Amino acid sequence: MSSSILSEISVDMSQPTLLFSEDGHKVYWLGISHQTAFRCNVYLIHSGEHYILVDPGSPLHTAQVQQRVAQIIEPACITALVLCHQDPDVAASLPAWLELNPDLCIITSPRAHVLLPHYGCADYRYHDIEQHPVFDCGDGHELHFITASHLHSPAAFATWDPCAGFLFSGDIWAALSLDWTLVCQDFASHSQNMNMFHMDYMASNIAARGFVHKIENLPIKAILPQHGSIIPPDMVVDALRYLKNLQCGTDILYPELS
Ligand SMILES: [Fe+2]
Ligand SMILES: [Fe+2]
Repeated sequence: MSSSILSEISVDMSQPTLLFSEDGHKVYWLGISHQTAFRCNVYLIHSGEHYILVDPGSPLHTAQVQQRVAQIIEPACITALVLCHQDPDVAASLPAWLELNPDLCIITSPRAHVLLPHYGCADYRYHDIEQHPVFDCGDGHELHFITASHLHSPAAFATWDPCAGFLFSGDIWAALSLDWTLVCQDFASHSQNMNMFHMDYMASNIAARGFVHKIENLPIKAILPQHGSIIPPDMVVDALRYLKNLQCGTDILYPELS
């Protein structure tokens, strides 16, 4: 299975959904199935001996995520968590995962790292994405981390998976809607759903354009946000244009100063 057939994938909410599999490298969507406009996506990357959860979510989601993980591997065998920033919908399940595996590696940014102890977690193995912007999966595959400051958190970063061509974008390209499909079907209507999130949450057009400048030459096959739908290959150019043109945050609050 490759990312090019993302649009043909059907979702069985009782199973992990395989999004990519090639050369021993797999990416799954694990949920969440909870019907809400603020739906959270949790992804699992399996590469070599690593099982890496991307944005595992809050205690509201832990039981379902661990159930989905258990259909692939023992939850205690998860080796790392990527926490794209410190928000509770991304990271509040951290103590539950550390309880299962105290050796878990926490991949995050320094500004998120200083706040994570407020979830009550003890010491943990910390991979600093600014000091070490590449994570070696040990099987010839890597994950690359790209800072995305002020989109929306100063701590935010995205994760680039070169093998799959997937960009795990956290809150960037997040969308809010009850009318949801795993893979985006219509970019024009999806833009309205992205506006619902971006106009209030994202800091400014400069922050958005600065991030696009960092990633626009990557061979991105799909964008996998933490909320809303996956953006498939034929809509990636539209998604980059959307972010470049985004008016949000301080652009809207203080138009006279823009
Ligand atoms: Fe957030
Ligand atoms: Fe979020």
